[in-house]
Amino acid sequence: SSVGVVVVAAGSGSRLGADVPKAFVHLAGRPLLAHALDTVARMPGRAEVVVVAPAGLTDPGGPLWSGVVLPAGAVVVPGGAERTDSVAAGMAALGQGCEIVLVHDAARCLMPLAVFSRVVEAVRAGAAGAVPGLPVVDTVKTVDADGVITGTPERSTLRAVQTPQGFRREVLERAHASGLQATDDAALVELCGDDVVVVEGDPLGTKVTTADDLERAQWLLDRAAT
Ligand code: C5P
Repeated sequence: SSVGVVVVAAGSGSRLGADVPKAFVHLAGRPLLAHALDTVARMPGRAEVVVVAPAGLTDPGGPLWSGVVLPAGAVVVPGGAERTDSVAAGMAALGQGCEIVLVHDAARCLMPLAVFSRVVEAVRAGAAGAVPGLPVVDTVKTVDADGVITGTPERSTLRAVQTPQGFRREVLERAHASGLQATDDAALVELCGDDVVVVEGDPLGTKVTTADDLERAQWLLDRAAT
C-alpha cells in the first residue's frame, strides 16, 4: 500500500519571533522546510508528498523557497488557520492511491529517516495509527485555570509525542470529518475510538519552536558534521 506524506508548514511561528513563517526560517543556510523535505525525499518506495504552506507562500519559485528541493511530484497547497485545517487541506490533495498517510511538522526538521520507517511499519503491521514518542523526564501536572494542580499523571505512563504521525487513510479522514481541532492528529483519531500506538521517537525530532530550539538544532547539525 502506498504512502502519502503531508508536510505541514503553514504555521506563523510567532513563538520564534522571526520575520518569516517558521518553516522558512533558516537553519545552516536553508529553510527548516528544506531540511525536513530532504529526509522525506529519502523515504523508500517513492512516497507521494504534499507540502502545506502559508497562503500567499505557495509558489515554490518564490524567494523564501530558495534552498528547498521539492521531492519529485510533490505539490504545494495553502494551509488554514489552525494546524488541523492545514492537515485537512494537505490530505485532500493526496492521490486516491495513498492508503497510508503520514503527517509531519516541517518544524521537526531533523527527525531521522529511521523514525519515518518505524511509523510506516507499525501501520503496515495493522495499527490504525502510529506516532513516535519519548519517555517524559519531568514530572507533569494538570492544572486548573488558576494554576492549582489538579493531578499528577504517573510519569511512566506518559510519552512526549512527535511527528511523523501515520494512519490508515480512512482512519485519519474519519477523524478529521469530526470537525474537532487538536494539536496533533493522534488526538482526533483517539477521540474517534481508534487505537494509536507509540513507536520509539528520536530526540533529534524535537520541534523547533523558540530561538533556543533553533540554536540547539544548529548545534546538533554542527556536531553531526564533525
Ligand atoms: O504551531 P506548532 O508548532 O504546533 O505547529 C506545528 C506544525 O504545524 C508546524 O510545522 C507548522 O508550520 C504547522 N502548522 C500549519 N498550519 C497552522 C499551524 C501550524 O501547517 N495553521
